[in-house]
Amino acid sequence: MGPRLNKKKAGWIALFAIIASIFLAPFSGYLLLPDQAMAQAPPAFDGDENPRSNFWRAVREGNSGYTAVRGDEANVLIQNGGENWRQLKQPVAQYGGWFIGAVALACLLFLLLKGRLRLENGESGMTVERWTTFERTLHWVNATLFIILGVTGLSLAYGRVVLIPIIGKDVFAAYAGLAKVVHDYLGPVFGVVLTVLLLRWLWMNIPSMTDVRWFLKGGGMFTNEHVAAGKTNGGEKAWYWLLFFGGIAVVASGVVLDFPNLGATRGDMQLANLIHTGSALILVGAAVGHIFIGSIGSEGSLRAMTTGRVDVEWARQHHDLWYQELLDQGVKPQTDSEAQAARDKPDKEAHSAHTPHSA
Ligand code: HEM
Repeated sequence: MGPRLNKKKAGWIALFAIIASIFLAPFSGYLLLPDQAMAQAPPAFDGDENPRSNFWRAVREGNSGYTAVRGDEANVLIQNGGENWRQLKQPVAQYGGWFIGAVALACLLFLLLKGRLRLENGESGMTVERWTTFERTLHWVNATLFIILGVTGLSLAYGRVVLIPIIGKDVFAAYAGLAKVVHDYLGPVFGVVLTVLLLRWLWMNIPSMTDVRWFLKGGGMFTNEHVAAGKTNGGEKAWYWLLFFGGIAVVASGVVLDFPNLGATRGDMQLANLIHTGSALILVGAAVGHIFIGSIGSEGSLRAMTTGRVDVEWARQHHDLWYQELLDQGVKPQTDSEAQAARDKPDKEAHSAHTPHSA
């Protein structure tokens, strides 16, 4: 026979069970589903610490929770990468700004100390074609888009620091709203035009040993030496390839930023933003140098892109190998008016061919 359970003993067991279950109740999770219960365990409270701080620490580390909002990463309350992005963006914007300023200063010093690169023998009045109408249109459409994107982009990047003190918050808010829309819409258009331009000029920007020699002699810019160059010289090719790789970086990252609905995560957007800002600032700095050398920095260069023709003295001085190639191909230098007349002639002939003769 087993031990008899008298009423008194049963009463003590029942009381112990009730008290024990009251104490054990909070820990019941551990006993039933250890893993899940560990995950839900309240943070330890060491007296001074806010009991919720461990919870928010976990949130800040990017741990997912639950939210009724739908969408990618909607359950991440605080994405910790945001803080890293904020800290990296500041030096990118700062050093990028310094770079643009340094290029502008170098151009100014060049002008003050060395002066404009002059045509040694002056203009001859005889010219050869350098860029076709299509190429010039491509260049100026591209340059116009680039300048609008550059101005609006820089306004958005530095507007708070630079523009608000000058034009005030209200005017800046209105301008920035417009600048953002213009920037967002013109970015992809620039991407298309730039692609056509880069493809069109790819063939003449393939690097060669002539370019290495050009660089070793600094393009003759400081020694006044004539350094051999083909249709484009080492400096122009460097600008082209910077535009090629920088252009891919700035356009691709811009598309990611322009279309958040394409599925990029917040981390992707932060990276895209840093790449976009960094590459855009490098391109703007290099463009300042290009614009300088293509206009006031070098006598006779700008007409290449405005009229499409250059003086033979300019061609001989800056692109001797290319000029020799033209002569070898039988190209005859002409005055601008002769070239214009030659261009008009086929039109006139075509026109008179269609004009009925009066009887
Ligand atoms: C107002 C601004 C600009 C001026 C005055 C200017 C001027 C010029 C000139 C004169 C040339 C012909 C150089 C030569 O015949 O050797 C040229 C070529 C070129 N420009 Fe510009 N430009 C400007 C803006 C831009 C911009 C913003 C870009 C690109 C985003 C650009 C890209 C190019 C390219 C790729 C070439 C062809 C040379 C090469 O292949 O490296 N330009 N530019």
